[in-house]
Amino acid sequence: MQDYLEANKGRFLDELLDLLRIPSVSADSKFKGDVRKAAKFVRESLEKAGADVAEIHETKGHPIVYGEKIVDASKPTVLIYGHYDVQPADPYELWTSPPFEPVIKDEKIYARGSADDKGQFFMHVKAFEAMMATNSLPCNVKFMIEGEEEVGSDNLGNFVAENREKLKADVILISDTAMIANDVPSIDTGLRGLSYVEVEVTGPNRDLHSGVYGGAVANPINALAKMIASLHDENGHITIPNFYDDVIELSAEERAMLEAAPFELEEYKSDLAIEDVQGEAGYTTRERASIRPTLDCNGIWGGYIGEGAKTVLPSKAYAKISMRLVPNQDWNKITELFSKHFLSIAPKSVTVTVTPHHGGQPYLTPLESAAYKAAEAALAESFGKKPVPTRGGGSIPIVALFEKELGLKTVLMGFGLDSDSIHSPNEHYGLFNFYKGIETIPLFFKHFAELSK
Ligand code: BES
Ligand code: MN
Ligand code: MN
Repeated sequence: MQDYLEANKGRFLDELLDLLRIPSVSADSKFKGDVRKAAKFVRESLEKAGADVAEIHETKGHPIVYGEKIVDASKPTVLIYGHYDVQPADPYELWTSPPFEPVIKDEKIYARGSADDKGQFFMHVKAFEAMMATNSLPCNVKFMIEGEEEVGSDNLGNFVAENREKLKADVILISDTAMIANDVPSIDTGLRGLSYVEVEVTGPNRDLHSGVYGGAVANPINALAKMIASLHDENGHITIPNFYDDVIELSAEERAMLEAAPFELEEYKSDLAIEDVQGEAGYTTRERASIRPTLDCNGIWGGYIGEGAKTVLPSKAYAKISMRLVPNQDWNKITELFSKHFLSIAPKSVTVTVTPHHGGQPYLTPLESAAYKAAEAALAESFGKKPVPTRGGGSIPIVALFEKELGLKTVLMGFGLDSDSIHSPNEHYGLFNFYKGIETIPLFFKHFAELSK
């Protein structure tokens, strides 16, 4: 195995760079053809790697790629999930090299999607190829690589519900999260849920002269800013009534276990060029960004934003607001609580509408499962260090749905780093991480086969 990986690593990288050249931005219809091109690339790479089945499934949106290799029906089956779509690359001018012309700099691959998630799911394709080529695939394997993760996986739920038999497996394995550091391997044992809404505030029926009407008629931007500001109190708690009702508080032991993983607050601040952190009273920085629910404004607009000044009292203001949720919170319920509260705090001088976007439930991986233990053993073997359990702050909404529809638990064996700049300009993925992932995945298969006996 080691020889095969060593002999082929240059080609593995070249193939990934080809995939990264395809601008498969799922959010922007301008790239629809490129998204399909990426799906075809993935399908072909599964076929070439040795899959018996490698097919494209059409959906109402972007296609889903499915592949499988059944070695022996009596052996355990690992279902790999990943996504070949990427976030928009905007703002382009902040990239030091073009986002879809990958370059290697300082031992890192710079390109949109390099870490999230092309570079990571492609490790599974290459690990599979290596196990096939060296006659050492100890489990059955299925691949489900979708093209709509970054836009809420709208059509994957249907696919899963309609293909329960096909997707039968013993565990789902995903590499789409981060570890603490290259010398501190870790496994995310949970994902936050998400509720995403858009709000519109309307004041007068048309834009007005801010001198003639200003002061007498509500300015929807002022009103919106005040409403958003009121969503947190002075302790950083979210003020929506009943928002925390279903939150499961962690025990002192669980909190201590998570706090045992290394974290340097000074480094964290200097990396972000901030004087200080902020957040919910009573919780550490890491807890605020993982085990606690949050509310953030993602975008806000309205009025005049062109060059120079225009004295205008705008008719409308808008904002996009997201809430990250933690285990036992339900995103539908939270969306309703938000809407009700947001409408209730609107002054009479404006009208407000709330439109829900996508959402997803939070998720927890059980640490006692054979699959979690297999991931732990695999990382321990390849890094020479036992991985620590952590809780990630991001969301992969479909993971909770996999559990509901397929009855399957997920193990999040991610190889990225928080500093990879995913969703930002200059996204990158370490060559070390790419190759370490390819080396570790076959070890997961080996340990999972053994522990499943
Ligand atoms: N891979 C990320 C999720 C992630 C990143 C989990 C880092 C843990 C650590 C995924 O592609 C993503 O970006 N998810 C979105 C949600 C989706 C509905 C757009 C997110 O978390 O914002
Ligand atoms: Mn991702
Ligand atoms: Mn993402």
